[in-house]
Amino acid sequence: MRLKNKVAIITGAGLGMGREAAVLFASEGAKVIVFELNPQSGNETVSLIEKAGGQALFAQGDVSKEADVKRAIDAGVAKFGGLHILYANAGVLWKDRDKSVIETTEANWDIVQAINLKGPFFLTKHGIPQLQKSGSGSIILVGSISALLGFTLAQDSYTCAKGALIALNKSLAIQFAKDKIRSNIIHPGMIDTPLQEPYLKEPGKREAIASCIPLGRLGSPRDIANAALFLASDESAFMTGGEMVVDGGYYVQ
Ligand SMILES: NC(=O)c1ccc[n+]([C@@H]2O[C@H](COP(=O)([O-])OP(=O)(O)OC[C@H]3O[C@@H](n4cnc5c(N)ncnc54)[C@H](O)[C@@H]3O)[C@@H](O)[C@H]2O)c1
Repeated sequence: MRLKNKVAIITGAGLGMGREAAVLFASEGAKVIVFELNPQSGNETVSLIEKAGGQALFAQGDVSKEADVKRAIDAGVAKFGGLHILYANAGVLWKDRDKSVIETTEANWDIVQAINLKGPFFLTKHGIPQLQKSGSGSIILVGSISALLGFTLAQDSYTCAKGALIALNKSLAIQFAKDKIRSNIIHPGMIDTPLQEPYLKEPGKREAIASCIPLGRLGSPRDIANAALFLASDESAFMTGGEMVVDGGYYVQ
């Protein structure tokens, strides 16, 4: 029970690594606010948690809408009596619309920024005062190895939003250390989730990508959820402003 007596909000917890983390955190004793745009998948995550004996609350909303994020935090705090973990997981990767700066429209640039960067802004803006009331807390941001490497197949708005989160992570870590609030960022490599599904459909594509990864496989949602669990728990109590690259060795090769 590594998260006993903790309350966590996870954005984008209806699918992929967000759902995996929600189920894992709940199995470790956390009460989880499942924040998700899609009501069906959000409710399914809550059912999975409750069937396993855990506690969760579904909060339907869009991370790019401040009122939705604030409402979810208020509802979670009212139900569970506090908040300790902010996991800014939700993000979109739209390779068809988010390309090089010379090909991307302003509208497509803005929507990717609104979800991938403004979403974590709203979550931390409204979540941190609750962590302060709780006396400590852990913030987990999600970057990407694309922000460390740059991608040859450009997705410039996505990459810039993830890069900005690296800076935000450092700023949050320094500002709120006095409140015992830690902030760390995970950089996933290629992880087999619904986000990547459209780009992995082609026969042989998964195998081709796996052959470029030193550990010889794509990551699983559990690989990232395990890293997030460590950052959420007191086991990482002396870690703040840190970056965890979870990519099977792709970045260092
Ligand atoms: N999968 C990868 O290879 C990979 C690699 C690097 C970084 N990431 C990052 O990891 C995070 C999780 O990715 P994933 O692969 O699990 O994605 P996913 O698409 O599989 O799941 C994301 C979830 O977020 C929800 N969501 C999307 N937009 C939302 C919004 N505006 N408001 C609320 N919920 C919203 C979706 O409905 C979905 O349930 C993202 O930030 C992504 O950028 C993923």
